[in-house]
Amino acid sequence: MKIGIIGAGYWGPNLIRNFHSIKEVASITVCDFDEERLEYIKSKFPNITTELDYKKLLDKNIDAVVVATPVGSHYQIAKEALLSGKHIWVEKPFTAKSNHAEELIKIAEENDLRLFVDHTFLYTGAVRKMKEIISNGELGNIIYFDSVRINLGLFQHDVNVIWDLTPHDLSIMYYLIPDKTVSSLTACGVSNFNEHENIAQLSLNFKEDNCFAHFHVNWTSPIKIRKMIVAGDKKMLVFDDMENSEKIKVYDCGVEIKSKECIHKMLVQYRTGDMYSPKVMQTEALSLAAKEFLQSIIEKREPLTNGRDGLKIVQILEAAEHSIKNNGLTVKIDNGFNHKTNPEMIKKDKVEFKNNRRKKSFV
Ligand SMILES: NC(=O)c1ccc[n+]([C@@H]2O[C@H](COP(=O)([O-])OP(=O)(O)OC[C@H]3O[C@@H](n4cnc5c(N)ncnc54)[C@H](O)[C@@H]3O)[C@@H](O)[C@H]2O)c1
Repeated sequence: MKIGIIGAGYWGPNLIRNFHSIKEVASITVCDFDEERLEYIKSKFPNITTELDYKKLLDKNIDAVVVATPVGSHYQIAKEALLSGKHIWVEKPFTAKSNHAEELIKIAEENDLRLFVDHTFLYTGAVRKMKEIISNGELGNIIYFDSVRINLGLFQHDVNVIWDLTPHDLSIMYYLIPDKTVSSLTACGVSNFNEHENIAQLSLNFKEDNCFAHFHVNWTSPIKIRKMIVAGDKKMLVFDDMENSEKIKVYDCGVEIKSKECIHKMLVQYRTGDMYSPKVMQTEALSLAAKEFLQSIIEKREPLTNGRDGLKIVQILEAAEHSIKNNGLTVKIDNGFNHKTNPEMIKKDKVEFKNNRRKKSFV
């Protein structure tokens, strides 16, 4: 398979290294409009080819394109890639607007092309183990998520800290509790340096069972914390990504209230039992993600992390931004895929696509 990778900044080299190590990948072309970045990449991976203009990369006979540029450019590049018949991998967050995400999903579906969104955490051993524990009912009914992702982080130029960091935690949450429905959110944040918030908090309410989720993200923290509590009514789990060996700890503890009378008298019974730390697979997540992308192309099926997953998160991010700009306003969430895309636009795109297809040969 021939791969094109657009964007060779901070994250791009990780993608290049992982695709480079897959034996089914016949060639890699890397594009960045920064010539110095391309020289650096060439010095690390001498057998790749490089391109300054992504449109020239899209004209090449390649099968799949990875978009690893800042989020503001994802939609345009991904759309052009789909219209030239390429399968696409788009970095998180999928797009800067939900209607753009919907349009890309439609173009990919109508042209039978794979659309992968890089929610990398779902390919980690820790998240896979959490999924296993939650799916087999060990935690019971999930009652809350509480997540902290803070450090002296890399400021993104075009988005705030919620757009940059919460897609990781939101993708984990959606993966772990696919049967629960987010109903509304509130968000607040502060921008100390420019117009983009560098510290923020996001709270989600669910339709079911008073479930609640809270995310705290910060690019300006003196310490690095990557912790998530997933609490069930039977057991609770802590995922600490800064731990090397014991990333997950399952606590057999909780709160039991025998009768309503007890609540009034504040006689709450605490249950504290054993704690254990399960073994977690150590394989690099990005390598599994890259293999899943290629496998989904070969098997002509939806990848594990696809456009619809990306869209749900963009809908949350958009609503969070609206809430922040309106002093923590509660915003209702409908994670449905509403087909607002202009059908005329899709029709035109399809014609362009067919014309392109005639010019080149694809898989
Ligand atoms: N999955 C993850 O865990 C993860 C981690 C970090 C970043 N990311 C995502 O990866 C993307 C890139 O982030 P980054 O931190 O590497 O950004 P970056 O700014 O360090 O790198 C982006 C690169 O893209 C190049 N570029 C921008 N527009 C271009 C264009 N039109 N044509 C060619 N080159 C172009 C820039 O020159 C730059 O080298 C973002 O969407 C980010 O959210 C994902």
